[in-house]
Amino acid sequence: MVATDDRSDAPSFVMRRPDFDSTDHVLNEQRVFSPTAEEVANANITAYMHSKGFDNYEDFHRWSIEHFEEYWADQARELHWFKDWEQTFDWSGKPFAKWFVGGKMNIAYNCLDRHKGTPVWEQVAYHWESEDGSEKRTITYAELYQEVNRCASALKAMGIGKGDRITIYMPRVLEMAVAMLAVARIGAIHSVVFAGFASVALVDRIDDAQCKAVITCDGYVYKGKVVNLKGIVDEAVAKTPSIEHVLTLKRAGNEVAWHEGRDVWWSDAIRQQPLDVEVPAEPMDSEDLLYILYTSGSTGKPKGVVHVHGGYAVGCYATTKFVFDIKPNDVYWCTADPGWVTGHSYIIYGPLMAGATSVLYEGAMDFPDPGRWWQVVQDYKVTIIYTAPTAIRALMKQGEQWPAKYDLSSLRLLGSVGEPINPEAWLWYRRVTGDRLPIMDTWWQTETGSMMISPTIIQPLKPGSATRPLPGIDAECVTIEGKPVGRTRGGFLIIRKPWPSMMRTIYRSPERYETYWNTIADVYFAGDAAHEDADGYFWIQGRVDDVIKVSGHRLGSSEIESSLVSHPAVAEAAAIGLPDELTGEHLYVEVILKKGFTSSDELAAELKKHVRGEVGPIAVPKTIVFVDALPKTRSGKIMRRVIKAKALGQDLGDITTLEG
Ligand code: WTA
Repeated sequence: MVATDDRSDAPSFVMRRPDFDSTDHVLNEQRVFSPTAEEVANANITAYMHSKGFDNYEDFHRWSIEHFEEYWADQARELHWFKDWEQTFDWSGKPFAKWFVGGKMNIAYNCLDRHKGTPVWEQVAYHWESEDGSEKRTITYAELYQEVNRCASALKAMGIGKGDRITIYMPRVLEMAVAMLAVARIGAIHSVVFAGFASVALVDRIDDAQCKAVITCDGYVYKGKVVNLKGIVDEAVAKTPSIEHVLTLKRAGNEVAWHEGRDVWWSDAIRQQPLDVEVPAEPMDSEDLLYILYTSGSTGKPKGVVHVHGGYAVGCYATTKFVFDIKPNDVYWCTADPGWVTGHSYIIYGPLMAGATSVLYEGAMDFPDPGRWWQVVQDYKVTIIYTAPTAIRALMKQGEQWPAKYDLSSLRLLGSVGEPINPEAWLWYRRVTGDRLPIMDTWWQTETGSMMISPTIIQPLKPGSATRPLPGIDAECVTIEGKPVGRTRGGFLIIRKPWPSMMRTIYRSPERYETYWNTIADVYFAGDAAHEDADGYFWIQGRVDDVIKVSGHRLGSSEIESSLVSHPAVAEAAAIGLPDELTGEHLYVEVILKKGFTSSDELAAELKKHVRGEVGPIAVPKTIVFVDALPKTRSGKIMRRVIKAKALGQDLGDITTLEG
């Protein structure tokens, strides 16, 4: 018999079947944490539910998916539109969707200008702090508006305008937010590349989007060491002729090479703009591109996920308001990097549209010691933290004495994202922060743009479950044929109806976009397995394809394999993720050497260095094993699940399609 997941006609990215019967730990997880009456009474979601005549989330949710256009239009109306939309939702070009058709808006206007004349305008937008704490800056909405306008004016003076693609490659500095908002303001399109990626990754991303400029820094300090960002940019730009300008912020003061005519210092470009210059926000069509963000898939090069002004704004705004329950006095801290989607949606756009005060901390969580984060919470009286399970597990390993040293009483709500959070980490996170806080475990993806499955503050919580789909989101677990598996059985996690912040396409690869909607007929499927328990709570099991999550960072096996194969000694490589207590998964690779090369520890170390230099430190394999052959299907596809099963010492299962 041929295993379903290795059929040659099977969609190439469905590699493993969900664990249909792995519900044991879920059924054993009986703990439930209910909200207080006060939390429920004061919740943003309660106010909206009441306005629609609902007291109970289940009934409200059912209404929200039956009347999803009304639900989303209500959310959209809270934002500013230069011109109202004529049609909320258009699915005539299925699977390509349009939202708020005919409307005109600008997300950057909604982040800043919309707050003029309200108390938010004079409120702090960001408290920023450097790793060693020696530099601090606080910027109000009014000040941020001014900086964004000056930057927008500088970009225009460089000849950058509507539709141009701009790469942003920066660490967690305030200017990163300024740059993103300035680009959006003038109707250009940003493509942010996480500063932890190296030059080959940068080249691929610049090239695919044919970017016209790069905005970067000379360098930045991470764990006490200077990372020479401009050097990496110079290396990349030598191979990307589309780049006309490199705008560089002086940050670390390290030596940089300079290319007259192409390179401009941020300070010089900004200084030439009047202090109070105003650049009117470009009225964008709802469906005009806001950004491209590259993310790893199972096969091929990273995909340029496209998000647009209108619908994306609505999704980020509504989820920030309802999931974090943001109130005017909150001090919100998302520890992610703006270079990933979590940062785009929940450091920049969502919180600014919601008028939140945020903390932006540049450095590492454990530098100089594991108390650093807790100190930030104490110093800024943070009320909401949004972080990743991998960070929680790392802090957990350091012990409870670190959080115990700090006053964390300001906290009122916690969030988690990026990978499943194990109940132990969930309980620890709650315990060390006062044993009273609700935890929002939010499931979503780069492609979904905003949160999909997550509790709101009014729902009872179960440690390790992302609870229920959010309003307007119709999620279910199904078989590969699209048949619901019912409760308490695992299946492929799908979403039935479009939602405003969904990606619009894959940049220059619409056929790759279509795969999301035709792998399982007519529904959205992006590669996770999950099951619903008897109460309808969702438990995410993880990816069923070759996407690997290392410390919450999304990597594709193909990127790591291509990088290894570009080394002169390597003939073939296969990369997989193996479970890791700390990082969720770690990278394990098997490598076949070319004739004339012999395996050695030195060569393994050199290969690691090679991947670090090409893709970046986040993609360095933990283990490299030299082998003579890789398991393959008859059609020549590497069977990564076999490598995984072998590495884990498991039964190899059905391998009848193995070559041989
Ligand atoms: C995983 C990050 C379990 C999942 C926002 C998804 C999660 C992938 C959770 C997307 C969660 C994200 N529980 N798994 N709360 N959140 N994931 O595009 O496998 O970097 O498909 O977006 O992360 O990763 P991405």
